[in-house]
Amino acid sequence: MAASPSPRAAALPRRPAAVLLLLVLGAAMLVPPAAAEIRETLIRSDPRSIIPLDEFGFSHSGVLELNVSGITFDPPASAELDLSQLGFFLSTLDAWVHVLRQLQDLDVTCALQSESVKLAFTFDRLRPPSNPAGVEVARSSSFSTAFRVSEPGQYTLVFANCLGGGLKVGMDVRSAMYNVDPATGDRQYLSAGASSLPSIYFLFCLAYAGLAAAWVAILLRKRAAVFRIHYFMLAVLVLKALNLLAEAEDKSCIERTGTAHGWDVLFYIFSFLKGISLFTLIVLIGTGWSFLKPYLADKEKKVLMVVIPLQVVANIAQVVIDESGPYARDWVTWKQIFLLVDVVCCCAVLFPIVWSIKNLREAARSDGKAAVNLMKLTLFRQYYVVVICYIYFTRVVVYALQTITSYRYLWTSVVAGELATLAFYVFTGYKFRPEVHNPYFAIDDEEEEAAAEALKLDDEFEL
Ligand SMILES: *[C@@H]1O[C@H](CO)[C@@H](O)[C@H](O)[C@H]1NC(C)=O
Repeated sequence: MAASPSPRAAALPRRPAAVLLLLVLGAAMLVPPAAAEIRETLIRSDPRSIIPLDEFGFSHSGVLELNVSGITFDPPASAELDLSQLGFFLSTLDAWVHVLRQLQDLDVTCALQSESVKLAFTFDRLRPPSNPAGVEVARSSSFSTAFRVSEPGQYTLVFANCLGGGLKVGMDVRSAMYNVDPATGDRQYLSAGASSLPSIYFLFCLAYAGLAAAWVAILLRKRAAVFRIHYFMLAVLVLKALNLLAEAEDKSCIERTGTAHGWDVLFYIFSFLKGISLFTLIVLIGTGWSFLKPYLADKEKKVLMVVIPLQVVANIAQVVIDESGPYARDWVTWKQIFLLVDVVCCCAVLFPIVWSIKNLREAARSDGKAAVNLMKLTLFRQYYVVVICYIYFTRVVVYALQTITSYRYLWTSVVAGELATLAFYVFTGYKFRPEVHNPYFAIDDEEEEAAAEALKLDDEFEL
């Protein structure tokens, strides 16, 4: 079987730089979906007129529970203050666009007045009803309310302060949003499109556990051909399975109780380990470590020294984004940091593969073993393309899916991303599996000639 790299070469992107740019632009839009759970938000002396607090996808029988305490105003509110200008509301994105137009046309002066939003609570209700005796009763500084949502949609919970004039508001907000299962009456704390996520993650966890078992069987059977990288691949598989298990448990706890009960910590730990090990594996395979050469060159080590700390930063950003919610002022900054770091990691892991391809091409020309080197070259080119496809799919296509599908089908983008990841793991394992009869070294003269010929054609291709 002679290597035929030329058609493949033609199919390869001729400008990796352009691919990288596409990746960067695409990933720049990526936003991880907000987790839905009971959220406690501390608002301290906040002068913002619009404060987003949380997002949730309601079904036909949704409930928003608000428990707010310790309401303070700075400067202290006088009795004349029009408290109806302060309050909480729910709004869909479409409704919000409408409100912005109304505000622009001066149809309303405050989002709370628009009929497009669902008013959950306005602060004039803090004042006790006037009593016949006319006794002055102090304004309450806390309230609890439950608000029913019957119109399904993806809503954002927002606090609006339309008083202006530098009035700062402080309060402790506990917000819980859930759907009520019409059959059982149980509360479902995951958004309408996310309630199937626990089972989806669990199924994928089983798939990876199966893959890990199969890999162990292969390692035992082909013991003679096993390199260190193959054990590393096993570790990556196991970490991925554990990560999915923690995510399934995390989501299922949130679904039932509204809080993660510590599973989120496990999830973050395994995410972190999985992220580091996967990127390291891609770099190691890209360099050909352990099956082409037993060492890493200096510049290859440098890539690892960039990627690993960046993964640490990415994971910290991920934790901050998930745990703080849209309220935090630096939420957007952390999102941008996460994106940037992710993009840099994705680009960095491609370099070792490109270097390997260059080295192999030069070796093929100089050492006379054209066929052997060309086969390796083809393998590495395939891997390069597959890594790019994997990164592009999981970062850009999945995000696009998330944006264009309705909130009710949020799970489809998760399934698409996990399927792509599974395919990537299977491809990597299959292409770099331990082989006793290494096809690289069983090549006759005829094939050698054909390969040398192919190599000449191949020179036209420049990576
Ligand atoms: C929050 O408010 C809801 C609705 O009024 C109430 O049922 C619930 O007990 C309150 N929870 C807490 C922790 O105060």
